[in-house]
Amino acid sequence: MIRSVVYAESGGTYKTTTTANLAVALDRMGLDVLAIDLDPQEGNLTTLFDAGENRDDPEADNIVRHILEMPEGNFEDLIETSAEGVDIIPSHDMLGDFTSNLEQKISYETQMKNIDAEDYDRYGLLYKLLWETEEVHNSYDAILIDPNARAEDLLYNAIYAMRTLVAPVRPAGKGSLSLDGLEELVTNMRQELGIEVGLSCVIPQGVGQTNAHKQYRDQFLQTDEFQTPVAIADRESMMDAMWEARGSAFKVVEERWKTLEADGEMVSEPGKRRIRDREVETLETLWELAGFVATETFDVTIDPELTLDIQDADTRTISYETRSEMEVTN
Ligand SMILES: Nc1ncnc2c1ncn2[C@@H]1O[C@H](COP(=O)(O)OP(=O)(O)O)[C@@H](O)[C@H]1O
Ligand SMILES: [Mg+2]
Repeated sequence: MIRSVVYAESGGTYKTTTTANLAVALDRMGLDVLAIDLDPQEGNLTTLFDAGENRDDPEADNIVRHILEMPEGNFEDLIETSAEGVDIIPSHDMLGDFTSNLEQKISYETQMKNIDAEDYDRYGLLYKLLWETEEVHNSYDAILIDPNARAEDLLYNAIYAMRTLVAPVRPAGKGSLSLDGLEELVTNMRQELGIEVGLSCVIPQGVGQTNAHKQYRDQFLQTDEFQTPVAIADRESMMDAMWEARGSAFKVVEERWKTLEADGEMVSEPGKRRIRDREVETLETLWELAGFVATETFDVTIDPELTLDIQDADTRTISYETRSEMEVTN
């Protein structure tokens, strides 16, 4: 099955956008997908998928209570299904206090059991919850986590549980190919937790038309140090519309969501967006990315064909070709 953390060292790196588009693409490839939102901040995956009604209710059951082994209800009841069919475990404000809650648990349990706090398995809790207690692999083909950006307990729990990263990057500086933060993280995980963390792929995104951006993109596409199956162009208008459509870029294009000014106010409506070839091409790129992650990284069987059902337009079919097929046709 597919298990991955969408990791980037800093915020605003298209993590949430990538998670949402990847989740929806995998779902449309015929897989059962669960997305877990571990980012307590505004503008997270939960907001995007219009979930998490109780995220600011301190009394409500939530993912943190389950990770810390103090649930207030059934795990299944945490799961919501988004309009596009992806299941999501929404974020909750309690994620912001994860470390202090964890410290309390550790201090209590280590005293009770007379063990050394250093020996407490503080990064293995999410692993235990997902694979041992709830056995989510019995219900899903793909689990994606959109984590909090800060390198601390919650992120380490996510990586410890998933073991594989998908890493969006955005052009920064002049053509720098640096993935220092990522390499450091992988080394840390190996040394501190004794686990191997795999990198599925790196995805340069927000690549504009400037020479510096193109050079940057090409450096990534050409390197042998890691896989870079696709680069995603600067598509601010389409990606921003996802937040109005409350869903993926596929939804934006198919339902034709557009933000426009009406009576001095910005409003967003379906049925208004022009069909742009470059945006449809970006959907193809996203489809290729999902196909790569599913088949190349995880060897999962997918339905390679996507029929785009664009409102008031002819349908269009996109197909994922496996890498070996591509080599044959080239
Ligand atoms: N390919 C892209 N080109 C331009 N803007 C993008 C692209 N992908 C996403 N964005 C926009 O960038 C902003 C930050 O993206 P987001 O996914 O929320 O980042 P993060 O989760 O890493 O903080 C959002 O407003 C989003 O619409
Ligand atoms: Mg985010």
